[in-house]
Amino acid sequence: MTKENKKTVVKADLLGKSYPSPTRGQPDNVVFENVNFTLEQGEFVSCIGHSGCGKSTILNIIAGLEPASGGSVFVNDDVVAGPGLERAVVFQNHSLLPWLSAEKNVMFAVQSKWPTWSTEKVREHAHKYLKMASLTTGLDRKPEQLSGGMRQRVGIARAFALETDVLLMDEPFGALDALTRGSIQDELIKIWGQEANKTVFMITHDVDEAILLSDRIFLMTNGPKAQIAESVVIDIPRPRDRSDIIHSPGYYKIRNHIIDFLVKRSKEISSNVKEVPNAPLDEGKLNYPPNVNPISGETSECLDAATTRIA
Ligand SMILES: Nc1ncnc2c1ncn2[C@@H]1O[C@H](COP(=O)(O)OP(=O)(O)OP(=O)(O)O)[C@@H](O)[C@H]1O
Ligand SMILES: [Mg+2]
Repeated sequence: MTKENKKTVVKADLLGKSYPSPTRGQPDNVVFENVNFTLEQGEFVSCIGHSGCGKSTILNIIAGLEPASGGSVFVNDDVVAGPGLERAVVFQNHSLLPWLSAEKNVMFAVQSKWPTWSTEKVREHAHKYLKMASLTTGLDRKPEQLSGGMRQRVGIARAFALETDVLLMDEPFGALDALTRGSIQDELIKIWGQEANKTVFMITHDVDEAILLSDRIFLMTNGPKAQIAESVVIDIPRPRDRSDIIHSPGYYKIRNHIIDFLVKRSKEISSNVKEVPNAPLDEGKLNYPPNVNPISGETSECLDAATTRIA
């Protein structure tokens, strides 16, 4: 599908979220307002920004788990008014049903989506996706008897088994060690590669992960009144390999650009907003690549989610 005839699957239109101030008589805490973006069919888009800027809030609004204070989200042209069968979510803490085995967790979701299917058909379908997520053993174990990586694999298998148009992932690998994280990223690339039309929106704090997986990366400024300041195009050819990608021309330029944004520009842009931040910043949570000077010297004035091409 060419860029011209790509279908917009998710559209955020003047999206805003505010919370009442805990202090009476004070103005609302505006997390973000007038946020606009689209996600096209088959795109993998990540969102990076400092802690508390509103990433999860945006994802939860798309998922229909949280109402917006202003504006709307449309999925396939329908306004989002609650959770829907065309959207699946993977959370950081897997959110599996603790009383069901790995296999049954996936089967339960499949049965809910296709209630007329026979148990055998449901099992077959569930196993297809468990296998894609490299889960062939331990399927009879309950979540508490699985490792963190296996739980996350079950969560990913469950989300893909629902065959939704949109997959929303909120720091899906945040709780995993580096090795497990790497191998599940590989699984994700593989599964997503087989589902050409699936649109993915993923929140991460890991710059390398975002570059490896994404077609575009949204860079969010700090709150309050956070903005998606840039949409960085990652045009490194696919298939991408974790060990080879660093040799791609432009890789370090993209990486430095994003880190520069996080270190400097995310604050500079938001410092124009004269309000007390509504959450302390947690910079320690961001995974800066260890061997990179975080200050690239590049600057950008893009404030309206302008598309940024680095390479
Ligand atoms: N129920 C609530 N009442 C008031 N403020 C809230 C509520 N829920 C979230 N917030 C505020 O909204 C802001 C955005 O929260 P959100 O969880 O979306 O941030 P985030 O970017 O996902 O952060 P992190 O990277 O730490 O997960 C934060 O400042 C948070 O304090
Ligand atoms: Mg969050």
